Amino acid sequence: MLSRDDVIKLLRSEGFAQADLFAEARHARERIWGPRVLLRGVIEVTNVCRVDCDYCPMRRSNLKQTDRFDADEDGILSAVEDIHSHGIDVVFLQGGENLAITDVVESVIPKVKQRYDGEVELLLCLGDLPDAHYSRLAAAGADSYILKHETSDPDLHLKMRGRPLAERIDRLESLLRLGYKVGTGTIVGLPGQPFESLADDILLAQGLAVHMVSASPFIPAEATPLAGAPMGNLDTTLNAIAIMRILNPEWLIPSVSAMNKLATDGQLQGLNAGANVLTANFTPTRDQQRYTIYGRSRHVARLDFLERILTEAKLEPRGSCWIS
Ligand code: 5AD
Repeated sequence: MLSRDDVIKLLRSEGFAQADLFAEARHARERIWGPRVLLRGVIEVTNVCRVDCDYCPMRRSNLKQTDRFDADEDGILSAVEDIHSHGIDVVFLQGGENLAITDVVESVIPKVKQRYDGEVELLLCLGDLPDAHYSRLAAAGADSYILKHETSDPDLHLKMRGRPLAERIDRLESLLRLGYKVGTGTIVGLPGQPFESLADDILLAQGLAVHMVSASPFIPAEATPLAGAPMGNLDTTLNAIAIMRILNPEWLIPSVSAMNKLATDGQLQGLNAGANVLTANFTPTRDQQRYTIYGRSRHVARLDFLERILTEAKLEPRGSCWIS
């Protein structure tokens, strides 16, 4: 167990202390996971969002400027085929928060399960939906769900998202109750987020008994109120990843593509700090360009790029831990 003070201190690690922290995190990962890193394939299914988050270019206020898209069933199924043909068995459907997409996703899930004999995990990241939607998606066969708490500071959360933190936590608890494997996560370096608050983010994830957690750096994006704010710090993000790994060696913790905006080998550094998940993008190109998360110059991680990172990290790909 690490105390809040321990976490705050570790978040500031640098030099030899940081190298020790990363080594301990890699050791904890090795103990549970061996040399294996989970590979996911993501399909971005809609850029329409009803929330107005200050950090996100797909915010509601930008809806008029955005070239809107909602993927259709055939488009999703062919991207799933692409993922499956590359030997990846975690299909990750991600999109803005928009109730209309539930129908499409609900209809696609059983088809995917049937087509691949249930040997595909369906992971969703579609925002705060009513319980009835989460139930329908679970009944259709969804296995897991990611809903990041983003920041555990109630004031900052409300300021950044225009929605209360309590509501987000309530949704996370619903997902857990419904039997999903659940992921949460924090954005590192939001303007107005001190180390203390980041420590609370990490401890909140532990308190919620989730199965996956992430620390991804804040990326200032054009057409948002935070366009001029400084980027999240690479070392702090890496330290957060390592602390998460030590706190709970069993967690799935990604090294996200946004890490590559902070350093060309950012995602590799995330693995070296204890992460054990990489996500390859399989969104059809046209939709990918319209999915403006992180702004137009986002780094899109393709499978060949991630395979090179795995080789460099001397790690190997693995499949879902939640299906047969
Ligand atoms: N910087 C970092 N993370 C962001 N997200 C959206 N915009 C940004 C940004 N500018 C993250 C949020 C959300 C996820 C889908 O993308 O954490 O949960």
